Amino acid sequence: MMNHQIKTFEEYKTAYQESVENPEGFWADIAESFTWRKKWDKVLEWNFEEPNIKWFQGGKLNITENCLDRHLKTRGNKLALIWEPNDPKERFVRYTYKELHEKVCQFANVLKNNGAKKGDRICIYMPMIPELAIAVLACARIGAIHSVVFAGFSASAMADRINDAQCSMVLTSDGLNRGAKQIPVKRVVDEALATCDSVQKVIVVERLGWAVNMVEGRDVWYHDEVQQVGKDCPAEEMDAEDMLFILYTSGSTGKPKGVVHTCGGYMVYAQYTFRNVFQYEESDIYWCTADIGWVTGHTYLLYGPLLSGATTVMFEGVPNYPDMGRFWQIVDKFGVSIFYTAPTAIRSLMGGDIDDVLSYSLDSLKVLGSVGEPINEEAWHWYHIHVGKERCPLVDTWWQTETGGIMISTLAGITPMKPSHAGLPLPGVQPILVDNEGNEIKENGVEGYLCMKFPWPGMIRTTYGDPERCRLSYFSTYKGLYFSGDGAKRDENGLYRIIGRVDDVINVSGHRFGTAEIEEAINHNEHVIESAVVGYPHDVKGQGIYAFVICKDVPENQEMLRAEIIETVVEKIGKIARPDKIQIVSGLPKTRSGKIMRRILRKVAEGDTSNLGDTSTLLDPAVVDEIKEGAL
Ligand code: WTA
Repeated sequence: MMNHQIKTFEEYKTAYQESVENPEGFWADIAESFTWRKKWDKVLEWNFEEPNIKWFQGGKLNITENCLDRHLKTRGNKLALIWEPNDPKERFVRYTYKELHEKVCQFANVLKNNGAKKGDRICIYMPMIPELAIAVLACARIGAIHSVVFAGFSASAMADRINDAQCSMVLTSDGLNRGAKQIPVKRVVDEALATCDSVQKVIVVERLGWAVNMVEGRDVWYHDEVQQVGKDCPAEEMDAEDMLFILYTSGSTGKPKGVVHTCGGYMVYAQYTFRNVFQYEESDIYWCTADIGWVTGHTYLLYGPLLSGATTVMFEGVPNYPDMGRFWQIVDKFGVSIFYTAPTAIRSLMGGDIDDVLSYSLDSLKVLGSVGEPINEEAWHWYHIHVGKERCPLVDTWWQTETGGIMISTLAGITPMKPSHAGLPLPGVQPILVDNEGNEIKENGVEGYLCMKFPWPGMIRTTYGDPERCRLSYFSTYKGLYFSGDGAKRDENGLYRIIGRVDDVINVSGHRFGTAEIEEAINHNEHVIESAVVGYPHDVKGQGIYAFVICKDVPENQEMLRAEIIETVVEKIGKIARPDKIQIVSGLPKTRSGKIMRRILRKVAEGDTSNLGDTSTLLDPAVVDEIKEGAL
């Protein structure tokens, strides 16, 4: 098994068995292939009660030495990063490993010159430009903890995340391109920083050339700063369990939590899963369409591919600009061989003219991937037939921000592939399904709550600043297990099919939001008394956001009111969390103890009111009829 890459189903079975019988030996063997300044003393220490999870304790390393330095001898002139701009007429950018190494060192020196040091938290709020990738790696190089905030979040959402982690610096740009639109990013940062005392410095990368407000003593231009630094920056030595990054994600409460990943385990897991799931080979051109603001961008645009010495493509724009063929044009342009995207993108492109796909050759493609939400059969087949020409294995990869990397997925062309099924667990991953009481369901052909019974190197270590929240969210529902929050089925052959969230999290275009988080935002609107948010099936987004809202005074023109409520959500969270439907109601279905019966609201939102179950125990049963009648 060269490079620990599984090449046959038999090898998979052997590796899987070994990983369960001797997990420490299994992962130690894989970890050996990386560059460590000092080898670990102990492979694993763990319990799922506190929880306490430590991999490769005592090991010393820097992940960027593994992403960059160690490739310089053998792959110095190989392309590391290809960047495609939003506008197809603008020239693309390419960096070899040597060049990327230099860029990262320079950025790291700029960070240091501006006072950043090991252990500092740095917020990165940047569009998909090469400097975003470089900035992330530059933080890792000096041992600063990056907290990337997707550039579609609002000032208020950014401020919450900056304050939670007490970031000392923000890395940003003047503005961003998104299809035909240009958006002033720095202005959003300025607004956020009005409520963030911890931030001392803001480093601004020029993208649009717009005049922006620069705060004296706080804000500097990257292009000025970079003139003053050298091209070499020794990497900071990190403990395997030092924090590498924080990434905020939504749970069932109103406040997003800062998922913490550490250096050693994350590194090993990112690379191992990348190579095996996509069956990566040295000559591949790999493209993951995710934004670095999400975990998929962290692990499979940046770290996984670079750790493997791959050529990774990064795209600034959107799938439908300037037309619906943009993805496929880029695949042909660079000869992309592995393509990884989200079901929502596929579903939106399915709605276009089929010639937008058929007019490109797509000959270079070998492997297709899907991530972020369940991929329905129709989208699966469209992707497999029209993009993959039925000759590319399609891997449906299930994982989470908390898992750090892919957990359940077909290994392309190696393990069984079945439409709408993620497939078998990766070696080292021990999923189980449990029933309501937390008892393991051992048979096949069953459905249950998806849990993990053993740690893996890429898993969440804690939630930043609040370890108790980590315990409560993932380790307290079922004793001794990590609970994913997803429901799943296991077929006769042991293949998993993910059904979706079983908690109060909705997945909109592959982005996670807590219903409580959206409700909290809506409730900020001055007209609103109370609200309840549920998800409902949406053709393109997977799930749409349906809000039931009680208002103080309902004007004749409800449209205005709805627009205002939407505006409040955009302000509090961002455009990505905009409700699709808002129904103004006079009351919500509540139990006598005051609990909202979301089951009823979900049924109404789904348009299925034939059987709402027993509503007689409600505080005010009449409200259900009103809600049914007013359904949108
Ligand atoms: C969902 C994204 C079905 C799931 C990597 C999970 C999926 C949540 C799949 C995590 C998949 C992700 N099939 N559902 N292949 N991949 N999900 O943290 O509900 O943004 O819990 O991580 O997305 O979303 P997150």
